[in-house]
Amino acid sequence: MSNGFTLWFTGLSGAGKTTVSRLVEKELRARGFKVEVLDGDVVRENLSKGLGFSKEDRDTNIRRIGFVCELLTRNDVVAIAAAISPYRAVRDENRARVGGRFVEVYCRAPIEVLAERDVKGLYKKALAGEIKNFTGVDDPYEPPLNPEVVIESDKETPEQSAAKVMAKLRELKYIAARKTRKRARMQKARNAE
Ligand code: ADX
Repeated sequence: MSNGFTLWFTGLSGAGKTTVSRLVEKELRARGFKVEVLDGDVVRENLSKGLGFSKEDRDTNIRRIGFVCELLTRNDVVAIAAAISPYRAVRDENRARVGGRFVEVYCRAPIEVLAERDVKGLYKKALAGEIKNFTGVDDPYEPPLNPEVVIESDKETPEQSAAKVMAKLRELKYIAARKTRKRARMQKARNAE
């Protein structure tokens, strides 16, 4: 059996997917796991270069990320996806494809808060009609019905959100109850086998 699993972060732009996934990545590496983050913005510069934001292109993007998650997961790597992934059906398709070890993390935040924060300045443009089909403004987002974890960046610090994810991973027994140097060494040795 593989030690790998997929952590799937979904939510609107600016809801904390990238920030929290990077914190979780660090925590898991410190425990001896091999980790790869597939971030929407990065994937769209590489694996999905040329794709736009129609439903069809978004679904293609998410299927590609799901395919890579499957490959990594079965090879003892923790795959972390951080993409808006607005359509429930394709997220569920990826869950089925990875088979079992799939943890969906819903990054929930009110659109008003995100538009106010507007780190990338995209909400302003979308609300002014300069960008079309912007998720949450004039394009749909279908929240997960049964996510394993819900994090709320308007109510928690990124560290608290990351701690929630780690707690769920412990509960699922995907990671050991407590990090010890010995465990980290053993995990590393198992990964190297
Ligand atoms: S997804 O819908 O296919 O999952 P993905 O996470 O890869 O999206 O990319 C989203 C990022 O693209 C956003 O964080 C934002 O920076 C940028 N972006 C540009 N145009 C749009 C748009 N119309 N809707 C959403 N995000 C957009």
